[in-house]
Amino acid sequence: MRKVQQALVIRHREIVPGYFELEFIAPEIAREALPGQFVHIRVTQSLDPLLRRPFGIYNVEKKIGSITVFYRVVGRGTRMLSDVHTAEQLDVLGPLGRPFSLPRYMRRALLIGGGVGIAPLVYLARVLCEHKVEVTVLLGASTSGYLVGKDILKRMGIDFMVSTDDGSEGMKGRVTDLLERVIDKKQFDYIYSCGPEPMMAKVTEIAQARGINGELSLEEHMACGIGACLGCAKKVIRNGTAAYAKVCTDGPVFKIGEVVF
Ligand code: FES
Repeated sequence: MRKVQQALVIRHREIVPGYFELEFIAPEIAREALPGQFVHIRVTQSLDPLLRRPFGIYNVEKKIGSITVFYRVVGRGTRMLSDVHTAEQLDVLGPLGRPFSLPRYMRRALLIGGGVGIAPLVYLARVLCEHKVEVTVLLGASTSGYLVGKDILKRMGIDFMVSTDDGSEGMKGRVTDLLERVIDKKQFDYIYSCGPEPMMAKVTEIAQARGINGELSLEEHMACGIGACLGCAKKVIRNGTAAYAKVCTDGPVFKIGEVVF
């Protein structure tokens, strides 16, 4: 059940230029937050800007009731959020959206994240490990400094490989090139992915060619975040029929093959 909470910011730092990690205390939301869900944050205490901004949940510390989100400054709203300081309060609504599923009998999962798309996969990786699933994460970015999530995955002891477009770290090329190299090395039962749409279209193609099921999390502009405005409609195929789904409530997680790219 979604809640609105005044959340105390306990950590807010710029990791690389334009990329921020924000942790706040919101125990009621943290208690229920599942991997793949998002929070909708009012970026200032005033009503300007009017609309909240959606952020995928990057990590949850249930003991202290904190949630961490990771974001990139892309416009006015995120620029205003980046000015928020530790000990300030934020108005947070959540948890929202359909989470990733954790299929029974899953032994090995492959997670593929591009850019800030790694954010929801970090929390998912942690939960999968708690469920004794063997997890491999593939991380892709333009260059080494933007390989987000690497340090937290290392701290969690999660197996990961990286690719960079410029070859400054890991394999030179796109993360989907790395995926093609890795996918047949182990028998993966399930794939999860989040990142730019061309990347997820390619992940879909690679997974379907091998008959591996999985899920994608879409990054979409949202206004209301609760299914009321239709501002996040996305074309999907369900039961063989084309339809429009609301990313905020029907997603942001969809089955591989459902989303029309
Ligand atoms: Fe309003 Fe999805 S953001 S319906």
